[in-house]
Amino acid sequence: MTGVDADLARARALLAGAARVVVFTGAGVSAESGIPTFRDALEGLWARYDPEALATEAGFRADPPLVWRWYAERRARVARAAPNAAHRAIAALERTGRAVTVVTQNVDGLHGRAGSTDVVELHGSIVRAKCLEGCGPAPAGWDRDARVPPPCPACGAPLRPDVVWFGEPLPPGAFERAERLAGEADAMLVVGTSGLVQPAASLPWAAVRHRRPVIVVDPNPTALDDLATVGLRGSAVSVVPSILPSGPIRPDASAP
Ligand code: APR
Repeated sequence: MTGVDADLARARALLAGAARVVVFTGAGVSAESGIPTFRDALEGLWARYDPEALATEAGFRADPPLVWRWYAERRARVARAAPNAAHRAIAALERTGRAVTVVTQNVDGLHGRAGSTDVVELHGSIVRAKCLEGCGPAPAGWDRDARVPPPCPACGAPLRPDVVWFGEPLPPGAFERAERLAGEADAMLVVGTSGLVQPAASLPWAAVRHRRPVIVVDPNPTALDDLATVGLRGSAVSVVPSILPSGPIRPDASAP
């Protein structure tokens, strides 16, 4: 058995024996659905912009139509995209009798569209909008095709994407719940994140502090590789379906 085969077997055993699984994902899990990762070079019109400048409240206030248009184009791309085999395999894991929570940094909603029912969207969702001045969520029928930010019906301020911009706090309670679950999980599966953005990237460390096994799946080196119990080099679609159990919990499986 090669080293890679042994790693795959170890990952399969850990997940087969896990009753509680936390799946922590980043942009890489959606790459094979055609959604560029956040740090991929921005394409076309956006190539000259720094995404970290656009994805801020200051950037939005400086030019609401520009930032709104960037999100509208990303929203349209997400609407055309479909969950891939990795999203679907993660959703199917819930149907094996395991408690599965997906904690994602992604704002594309693809885990929910794949069928996952317990998804913590740490960075919000691009398919939702809210009042820039804090009145609350946009009304159900807000104009998703608007070329400029529609006005909040309550105060007239522009609507903004319901995502967490750089420098903004995460949704109340989201990180705290994710951190607690990471410390209680029988296994954490990390897929497609560079592990560069805090506090999200500290979640695998919460699992390690509680001596929980962490499996990291990524085609490239990441900042989380050193903490991995098992590190698997490969894409989400090529690896995740091949390591997730399709059968019921096997308590003996992950015994050393
Ligand atoms: N399968 C799995 N992983 C992949 C794939 C793939 N097909 N393609 C790329 N990746 C990996 C990259 O190697 C990288 O490690 O996905 C990761 C993407 O990293 P980032 O672009 O930094 O995205 P992410 O880690 O999700 O960023 C975290 O930072 O930019 C903010 O709010 C933004 O949610 C984002 C957060």
